[in-house]
Amino acid sequence: MQTGKASARANSNIAYIKYWGNCNNTLRLPSNSSLSMNLDGLHTQTTVTFESSLNDDEVIIENKTQSGVARERVIKHLNLIRDRAKMETRARVESENNFPTGAGIASSASAFAALTTAACAAAHLQLSERELSIIARMGSGSASRSVPTGFVEWYCSERHDESFAESIAPPEYWNLVDCVAIVSAKHKEVGSTDGHSLANTSPLQQARVEDAPRRLKICKEALLKKDFARFADIVEEDAVMMHAIMMTSRPPLFYWLPPTLTVMGAVKEWRTRDGIPVCFTIDAGANVHVITLSDYVSDIESRLRAINGVQDVLKAKAGEGARVMKNEQ
Ligand code: DP6
Repeated sequence: MQTGKASARANSNIAYIKYWGNCNNTLRLPSNSSLSMNLDGLHTQTTVTFESSLNDDEVIIENKTQSGVARERVIKHLNLIRDRAKMETRARVESENNFPTGAGIASSASAFAALTTAACAAAHLQLSERELSIIARMGSGSASRSVPTGFVEWYCSERHDESFAESIAPPEYWNLVDCVAIVSAKHKEVGSTDGHSLANTSPLQQARVEDAPRRLKICKEALLKKDFARFADIVEEDAVMMHAIMMTSRPPLFYWLPPTLTVMGAVKEWRTRDGIPVCFTIDAGANVHVITLSDYVSDIESRLRAINGVQDVLKAKAGEGARVMKNEQ
């Protein structure tokens, strides 16, 4: 009988080249490679306690005991880790986000990166970052990218052991800041997992996937050279392409709201008319991630807040990867 306890913290991340669609939905093997930045300070902290006295797993998120799909998804993930550690002990999982839930920040990325890191440490598994990233990927694809530090690339592969994420630059490499314009705090109606499984119903997905290596190459080069103008164009192109897939899936998914388009238009104008280094990207929701350089953050924040429909602005620079906070027993 094994026991063990560990806490881990992982930041959420924003993808500059998006993950949308899998070649294997069960293993979450993505159809294309993606590239992201961890979001400093927007994190999930999770404690996993394997306890022989427990008859069943307990999943507590934001101080609420979970039942149904949320609980099942966590247990499925714990089972992967238990199988690997050859143990059967039940666990208590306690998890909290430090960012407002329902604010449209991807919580599955930070949640499954923190859960993987904490549960593996609590199960006394000594795993490499690559292995942790692969396990996190099976809980939520984007979680694989929250394991390594800073700016991260997640490789697509048809092979389970080759689809993992790796850091391409540390957080301090480039002073990009994500100013998230919150235009809707509503929980999204169609979650990413269901969305991914619809991607191949869009006649445009094949073209998007085939062109993905080109976009990723440009984005990575621009990032490594800190060439904001090139970076801005490709980040916006990639996000709009993903939404074109969503809108042409069967059934179609429309995530944008009127203020989403207002912010997109304003950001383009600030860049082209005012010469400010700023661009947008949008995940599976209505909120707009407005990316700029640290010197421009206060200007961009006040411009965003002046737009009708923008309810709040959250800010995050590039952050670290997942880490164990403490390890007991
Ligand atoms: C639009 O990782 O949330 O944010 O693997 O089903 O958990 P699951 O999906 P998820 O998908 C993220 C989609 C995205 C783009 C991205 O982050 O790359």
